[in-house]
Formats: sequence, C-alpha cells, structure tokens
Amino acid sequence: MKEHLIAPSVLAADFTRLAEEIEMVNRSEADWFHLDVMDGRFVPNITFGMFIVEAIGKLARKPLDVHLMIVEPEKYIDGFRKAGAEVITVHYEACPHLHRTIHQIKETGAKAGVALNPHTSVELLRDVIEEVDLVCLMSVNPGFGGQKFIHNSLAKTRQLRQMILDTHSNAMIEIDGGVGLQNAEVLLQAGADVLVAGSSVFGAKDPIATIGALKAFKSVVL
Ligand code: DX5
Ligand code: ZN
Repeated sequence: MKEHLIAPSVLAADFTRLAEEIEMVNRSEADWFHLDVMDGRFVPNITFGMFIVEAIGKLARKPLDVHLMIVEPEKYIDGFRKAGAEVITVHYEACPHLHRTIHQIKETGAKAGVALNPHTSVELLRDVIEEVDLVCLMSVNPGFGGQKFIHNSLAKTRQLRQMILDTHSNAMIEIDGGVGLQNAEVLLQAGADVLVAGSSVFGAKDPIATIGALKAFKSVVL
C-alpha cells in the first residue's frame, strides 16, 4: 500500500474566518493546502494572488500547493515561490513553452506541476512526463468549487498511471474537482496520489473527520 495525500482546497473555506479554517487544516490529517489562483482570463473567475498566498503561508504548517489558473504563468512563478509555494502547478493550455516553464519552476526549488483541463488528453504529456513532479487532472472545468465530478476523469487517471509506469516517471497524480467520500476510493484504486477536496471538506459538518476519512481510504501499489 502506498500513502496518498489529502489537499483541502481553501477556495471552499469561509474567508471571514480564514485563520480558523487554516488552523483546522493544520490540526487535521491533511497533507497540503491547495490554493487556487484565478485571473478572470484563463478561467471565468477571479480569486486571489501572491499577497493572500503569503498570508496563508504565515499560518499554514503544511506545504502550499499553488494551482495557477492564469495566463502567462511564467511571469509569476518567482513571485509565488517567494510567497511560500512548495508546489507550483501551471496549466498545459496556458503554456506554449511548457518544457521551459516546468524547468523555470524547478529552478526556484519548488515542485513542478502541470494541470490538464477535462478535454486535454493525458497523451499530450508523454514527452515531458519524466520532468514533471505532479500532474493535476482537472475533474471539473476549472473556475469554481462545488461542481460535479466528470466521470471520464477516472479513465484518464488510469491512463496517466499507465504512462507513468511505462516511462518510470516519478510524477504524482493529483485529482482536482468534485472529489469527496463518494469517489475517493475508486480514484485511489485508479492510481491517484493526491486528492484535492474543497466543498466536501469545508462544507462538511465535521471537516476534520472528513479529512481523516479521506486519508483512511486504501491506495494500491500499481
Ligand atoms: C476548481 C479548483 C478546485 C476547486 C475544487 O477550479 O481548481 O481546486 O477548489 O473544489 P471542489 O472540491 O469543491 O470541487
Ligand atoms: Zn485547484
């Protein structure tokens, strides 16, 4: 059995009580804080930038997993690293020079992630898969929390796991969008390493217990 990680998405937190919500995650069995940066251009929504990431980092006692849903992410990689990001994920669809951008992230000392929209085939990563630390499969269209899981993401997870096995890549597979107690186990069995969970955690009656339950599901070594 391999260990999997749980990354609560702060987008679903109550921002009027942000410090308490961060402390809840600190006290839970969660592994990372997932932070969704949106620019109103790559996605039809605007969230927060470096300033808030840095503020969250001052209270967080777990690594910051920063998901950049922005155009021209290469302009801001250094800034998010300085703000405290340990994982920086850019979108395949936003990077015409993805290989260069992956190395730009790695040069800062952060782990480099690449996110794929639901319509983007995992096959498109074959030529860079050995260089990336994490692939984030979007299981909803990026832009909003609380959306329904797109079922085809399960097949994509299996396909990506097979590609990682074939190429001996060390990339972790992260699933983002519509993840909760109802589909965590099947995703882990398909080969997921990191489960992002927003509304299923922050909207739960008992978020700490929900994180514990997500963490307790068994993963398989594939
Ligand atoms: C969507 C974001 C997700 C989102 C997940 O664009 O990338 O991280 O916060 O939220 P849930 O878990 O509510 O689908
Ligand atoms: Zn995200």
